[in-house]
Amino acid sequence: MLSRALALAALALPAAAFIECNVLSYGAVSDNATDLGPALTAAWNNCVIPQATTVATDVLLFTNVVFNGAKKWNLHITGNIYLPYIPTLTGTMLTFQNCQNIILNGPGAIFGNGLRYRPGGDLGLHPSRPRLIRFQDCNNCEISSVTLYDAPQFHVTMIGNNNVAHNMAIIATNIGDECVTVKTPTNGFVGENIRCKFTAGCNIGSFGSANTAVDVRNVRYNNVTISNSDAGVEFKAYPNNIGTVTNITYTGFTLRPHTQSAGINSFWAGDGVDTGKLSITDVTFSNFVGTGTPTRPAVTLNCNKATPCKNIKFSDISITNAKANSFTNACGSGVTGIPAC
Ligand SMILES: *[C@@H]1O[C@H](CO)[C@@H](O)[C@H](O)[C@H]1NC(C)=O
Ligand SMILES: *[C@@H]1O[C@H](CO)[C@@H](O)[C@H](O)[C@H]1NC(C)=O
Ligand SMILES: *[C@@H]1O[C@H](CO)[C@@H](O)[C@H](O)[C@H]1NC(C)=O
Repeated sequence: MLSRALALAALALPAAAFIECNVLSYGAVSDNATDLGPALTAAWNNCVIPQATTVATDVLLFTNVVFNGAKKWNLHITGNIYLPYIPTLTGTMLTFQNCQNIILNGPGAIFGNGLRYRPGGDLGLHPSRPRLIRFQDCNNCEISSVTLYDAPQFHVTMIGNNNVAHNMAIIATNIGDECVTVKTPTNGFVGENIRCKFTAGCNIGSFGSANTAVDVRNVRYNNVTISNSDAGVEFKAYPNNIGTVTNITYTGFTLRPHTQSAGINSFWAGDGVDTGKLSITDVTFSNFVGTGTPTRPAVTLNCNKATPCKNIKFSDISITNAKANSFTNACGSGVTGIPAC
C-alpha cells in the first residue's frame, strides 16, 4: 500500500537529504472513506512546515486544503484521490497560495466526481460546486503528470509568475469545466503537452467584473489537444476591465469536435457598457487543426471599440466545418477578413 502512497515531501535540495512525511502518520486512512483533508493539513503544519510529509492511496478528500506560504516542496500523488458527492461541498479542494517552487505531480490521479454535481449537464443544481486545484499568487511552480478526472468546477487555475503545467491529461464528462486556466495577475506561464477531454477549453480569465485591474503577459500554450469541448481557447473579459493583456501565444492545438476554436471576447460577461480600458495586444494563434461546428466561427474576436485588440496574428489555422470568422474592433494578420493594423 505504501508503495502506492501519495507523498507530500520537501524538494530535495542539492546535497540535502530528501525528507518525506507520511500522511498515514497524521490521521490519513487508506480506506476511501476517511477525509484526507485534515491529515493533509496536519502533515503540512506539523511536518512540511518544519521539514517535509506522505498521504495514502485510495483516499477520500472532502475538505478544502490551503497550503499558504508553501515553499520548495513536492506534493507527489502516486495513488488515487476521490472527491465524494456531497451536495454542500464548495470552495477549492487544493489551493497553493503565496507559494514558490512547488511541484505537484503524479503519476496518480484525482477523481472529481463532477458528473454527480452537474447531472445531465445541469450547472444550476450546485452553482458553488467545488473547484479542484488553484495556484494563487505563486511563482516558479509546476504541475505535471497527474491525471485529473471530472472536476465539479474548474480543474486547474494558475495565477502568478513563471508557472508551468505540462504533460498531463484532464478528462471530464459531459462538457465539464475549464481545463488549464490562467487568471490575473500572471507574468510568465507555459502550458505544454496537455490533453483536455470534455472540458471547456484552456482560457485566459475570466477577469472578474467591477473594473478589475488586469495584468496578464508572457503566456504560452503549446501542443494541446482539446476534444469534445464547447470551447478551444478564449479570452474572457468584462467590458469594464482595466489593464493589459499582452504577448500571449497559443500554438500547436488540435481541436476535435468542439464549438468554438479561438476567440477574444471583451464582452464575455458584464453589462456590455464598453469602457475601452482593457488593452489586448500581441496575441498569436498558430497551428490550429481540427473540426468546429457549422453554427460558430472558428475565430471570433470581439474587442473594445475605444481600445481595439492589436497585433493579433494567426498562422496555419485549419479548422473545418465552421462558420466564417468574425472580427469586431481587432486588427492583425494571417486569416481572411482581419484588417491589418
Ligand atoms: C472511492 O469513493 C468514491 C466516492 O464515493 C467512488 O466514486 C470511488 O469509486 C471509490 N473508489 C474505490 C477504489 O472504491
Ligand atoms: C504533445 O503532447 C502529448 C500529450 O498530450 C504528448 O504525448 C506528445 O508527445 C507531445 N508532442 C510533442 C511533439 O512533444
Ligand atoms: C513573450 O513571452 C515569451 C514567453 O512566452 C517570452 O519568451 C518572450 O520574451 C516575451 N516577449 C516579450 C517581448 O516580452
